[in-house]
Amino acid sequence: MRVLVVGSGAREHALVRAIARSHLVTAVFCAPGNPGIAALAGLVPIAATDVQALTEFAAANAIDLVVPGPEAPLVLGLTDALAARGIRCCGPTAAAARLEGSKQFTKEVADAAGIPTARWEAFTDTHHALDFVRRRGAPIVVKADGLAAGKGVVVAETEAEAAAAVIACLREGSFGAAGATVVIEECLVGQEVSVFALCDGRDAIFLGAARDHKRVGDGDRGPNTGGMGAIAPPPGFTHATQIAVMDGIIHPALAEMERRGTPFTGILFAGLMLTEHGPKLIEFNVRFGDPEAETLLPLLDSDILPLLLAASEGRLAGSSLAWRAEASVSVVMAAAGYPGAYQRGSAITGLAAAEAGAEVSVFQAGTRLEHDTLVADGGRVLVINATAPSLAEARARAYAAVDAIDWPQGFCRRDIGAHF
Ligand SMILES: Nc1ncnc2c1ncn2[C@@H]1O[C@H](COP(=O)(O)OP(=O)(O)O)[C@@H](O)[C@H]1O
Ligand SMILES: [Mg+2]
Repeated sequence: MRVLVVGSGAREHALVRAIARSHLVTAVFCAPGNPGIAALAGLVPIAATDVQALTEFAAANAIDLVVPGPEAPLVLGLTDALAARGIRCCGPTAAAARLEGSKQFTKEVADAAGIPTARWEAFTDTHHALDFVRRRGAPIVVKADGLAAGKGVVVAETEAEAAAAVIACLREGSFGAAGATVVIEECLVGQEVSVFALCDGRDAIFLGAARDHKRVGDGDRGPNTGGMGAIAPPPGFTHATQIAVMDGIIHPALAEMERRGTPFTGILFAGLMLTEHGPKLIEFNVRFGDPEAETLLPLLDSDILPLLLAASEGRLAGSSLAWRAEASVSVVMAAAGYPGAYQRGSAITGLAAAEAGAEVSVFQAGTRLEHDTLVADGGRVLVINATAPSLAEARARAYAAVDAIDWPQGFCRRDIGAHF
């Protein structure tokens, strides 16, 4: 099989590595990829959002399966454009990708499907929204409806904070069209986990659960980031929780999407709160998480490619995946200053020494080759993953690998997987 992976981060590096190991694969391409991916796949200089050029490339190069990493090409209709040319894609159509593109849509699907989620209402009118905040009181959560690069949600501790979030969205247009509607919802209490399921429109198989670490600083302090690390499995995530999520959230969502004539194919990412009344849905995303993909894929014992293909062909029923019953820890190394302003171009060495550690993988995100030197070229630059029989050992291996990397301009959190 000839496979095209779309994207350029550490998530795509992990996907390419898993796919390149498949016994089915004859060629792997990645658009646009990065220097780490170049060692495993042919790089194609097409942006992940250039749906037309990606489709042309796939058609011209006899690609059998496209595997998109990020949500942007999905929301833009990559799956639809490929389908029109008879090319399979393991990702949702634009219509099904609304599960990530609109929080209001997700809440409507959740309610129609009987999925447990925070009570909510949606508003386009500032006065009605402010009135609702006053009636409900704090704590309360205010969300821009559309894609807001992870910055559209305010978990407000006070009514004033919630009111400011409403005004920023609806009156000041801080998120443009993405904030023209706000969803205001009840504040859930519990531990957060991310659950992944591979879906074929009707059936789904569990792809693992992980906990990410969104804040930039140790002890969950400082601003939010794209993710500074992740662990799997999340402590306290039992087999019973897995069943509750698959039966109470994933399968009902698939049934409701199918009923609406927009079946969901691809990787469904359920952001959940484990509350005292069981798991409740916070949001769906329509692709693998980053750094969750880098955390879960190294635990996979099966060949993933036949399952990605089966999902894209609607024939997952009866399939299963084998996982190593181990723990996995991923630590993100970012450029100093991130998530604020940071510099590009600092040299990184020591990757080979880091990867020499047992069960260690170094995935590249924001990197670039300058002559023969690897240099930082983004905010999140490297993801160092390690697996081991216990969380403590995986953590020790991951940080030993981090310490083998020579990059004075980089930093990482020192407490990934430590607070359990
Ligand atoms: N109803 C809620 N109760 C408590 N916390 C919430 C709630 N909704 C969102 N959050 C918090 O805000 C974060 C971001 O919200 P989410 O809906 O995942 O939006 P996005 O990832 O698109 O920014 C969540 O990871 C969670 O920590
Ligand atoms: Mg989220």
